[in-house]
Amino acid sequence: MIVTWFLVAAQAAPTSATDSLLAHYTSQGATPDAARGATFWATEHAAPDGGAARSCTTCHGSSLDTAGKHATTGEPIEPMTAAERLTDPAKIEKWFGRNCRWTLGRECSASEKADVLAYLVAGGAR
Ligand code: HEC
Repeated sequence: MIVTWFLVAAQAAPTSATDSLLAHYTSQGATPDAARGATFWATEHAAPDGGAARSCTTCHGSSLDTAGKHATTGEPIEPMTAAERLTDPAKIEKWFGRNCRWTLGRECSASEKADVLAYLVAGGAR
């Protein structure tokens, strides 16, 4: 009973980290599209050093539900649908910054970030 109430209360919370970031990107002109985000997530980009092409799945793996593996350190990476994910807008922005620069060689646009977040949420991440 208490658990049920808690879950309902959590879902009814006005803004989650992803909701507030999506609203932020939308205010910058983005129109979040999960299908576009799925394509973006898997699209490969040439590596600056001529090595193997890179995509978001290079480290995060091809399934959002299974652990990934860091391409350079070999460290395991929690699944994108893990419960502790996407809870902090600043953390999400920080990793978008690092990972976009590593994968694409540039920052992601607000539209690209909105599409990826929509894809992650549609795929079962909060
Ligand atoms: C070089 C390996 C690597 C690549 C490639 C990579 N990531 Fe990540 N990503 C990580 C690591 C490491 C973390 C943070 C550690 C963790 O949370 O497990 C992370 C975390 C994130 C987070 C934060 C999740 C949270 O819990 O808040 C997002 C969002 C994200 N990545 C998106 C992307 C996107 C989009 C791409 C493709 C443009 C991408 N990543 C490519 C390694 C990578």
